[in-house]
Amino acid sequence: MLSKSIESALNKQIRIEAESSQAYLAMAVWAEVKGLEGISGFMYDQSDEEREHMLKLVKFVNERGGHAHVSELKAPSVSFTSFKGMFETLLEHEIFVSESINELVHISLQEKDYATHNFLQWYVAEQIEEEATARTILDKIKMIGDDKGGLYLFDRDIMQLTVNSAADITAK
Ligand code: FEO
Repeated sequence: MLSKSIESALNKQIRIEAESSQAYLAMAVWAEVKGLEGISGFMYDQSDEEREHMLKLVKFVNERGGHAHVSELKAPSVSFTSFKGMFETLLEHEIFVSESINELVHISLQEKDYATHNFLQWYVAEQIEEEATARTILDKIKMIGDDKGGLYLFDRDIMQLTVNSAADITAK
C-alpha cells in the first residue's frame, strides 16, 4: 500500500510525464510544419515514449492501492526560434525530469518504500539514456550551425535513428 506522500509524489510525476509527451508532440508538429520529417518523426516517437512512461506510473499507483490522478496539463511551447533552441529545450526538460525522478527516489528511501524504490530504478536508467540522446543531438546541431545542407543531412540521419529505435522495440 502506498503512503499518501508517495502517492502524491508519484501523481506529480504522472503529470510531468504527460506534460513531457505534450511538449514533444508540439515539437514534432513544429518540425513537421517546417518540413523536417526526420526530426518530426523522432519527436513523435519521443512523445509516444513519454506517454508510456506516464502509463507505467499510472498502473503502478493503481496496483499498489493508490489512485492515479489524471490532471490538467501545462500548455507546452508550440514554436521555437531554431532547431538548436528546440533541442536545448528538450535537454533542459530531460534534466528537469531526471531531477524530479531523483527526488522521488529520495522520498521512497525516506519512507522506506522499497517496492517504489525498486520500481523507480527503471526511470533512473531511462533518464541516463534520454539525457545522453538529447546531448548527442544537441552537439550535432551545434556543429551544423546555420548550414541548411547540414540540417537536411541531419534530418535524414535522425530518421535512421528513429528507424533503429523502432527496430529495437520490435526486437524486444
Ligand atoms: Fe519520461 Fe523523458 O522523461
